[in-house]
Amino acid sequence: MPRIDDGFRGFERRIEREVDSWRVRRKDSDDKKTYDEVFDKKNLLRIYKLFSDGVIDTIEFPISTGKEGNVFRALTSGGVFLAVKIYRTSTATFRDMAKYIQGDPRFKGISANRRNLIMAWSAKEFRNLHRFTEAKIRVPRPVACHENIVVMEYIGTETSPAPMMKNVVLDDPEHLANTLLEYVRRGYQDAELVHGDLSEYNVLMDGEDPVIIDVGQSVLIKHPLAEELLVRDITNVARFFSKHGLDIDVEQQLREIRKR
Ligand SMILES: Nc1ncnc2c1ncn2[C@@H]1O[C@H](COP(=O)(O)OP(=O)(O)O)[C@@H](O)[C@H]1O
Ligand SMILES: [Mg+2]
Repeated sequence: MPRIDDGFRGFERRIEREVDSWRVRRKDSDDKKTYDEVFDKKNLLRIYKLFSDGVIDTIEFPISTGKEGNVFRALTSGGVFLAVKIYRTSTATFRDMAKYIQGDPRFKGISANRRNLIMAWSAKEFRNLHRFTEAKIRVPRPVACHENIVVMEYIGTETSPAPMMKNVVLDDPEHLANTLLEYVRRGYQDAELVHGDLSEYNVLMDGEDPVIIDVGQSVLIKHPLAEELLVRDITNVARFFSKHGLDIDVEQQLREIRKR
């Protein structure tokens, strides 16, 4: 896999070979388009920058191909696993993104063209990971952010990324629900953030421990969308856990969370 010792051209050839090997392994020609897009010249240069800065050493394999971007597992030269999220700059539907960026004083003055929005979105995810981490909410530890690429702690084992909460058998749903609700409360009161897309899809299970991911859309509590998103987050949690026999009172939770 690409190691950085012979400049960009060598790097480019190696990463192309690796991407080809994923295609063969996965026997999935639909992926070709995705990889051609992710590993276009601009992104290769950005990834190369992360390599030459010593942030990552190799990109190992794709973990997820989503609407807005792709997540890969990477390795540092010290052998530490990382997750690398590369936001799509071309085909993604970013119509909704603007409303999450506008109204955030941290990104005042960003003009709403697609490229700027995506760069701001990545920076926002990175900064939100910091804020959540500081408030002792379990999210992937942020490592680096460069343009449309966010590098963070990898959640999972050597052999496989951590499963989503929706795909695991829950030993103790009540304890898990309480942990998540506590994270939402701490997020609101200490980080002053609302996740905004909290669901069983954006919680990974690190063994028994939930890890909240996908925080690009998270907004400050003063954001005009914050209260609406908070209600939606808690409603999602209540809906999911009602399938596991728990009766979460959304109104009561909201009162607890807003009590400061
Ligand atoms: N830090 C991480 N460690 C391990 N897997 C991750 C990590 N971040 C994301 N993933 C995987 O990638 C998928 C997509 O990531 P996510 O941030 O939810 O982006 P999106 O939903 O916008 O595509 C997740 O469902 C998860 O399987
Ligand atoms: Mg997600």
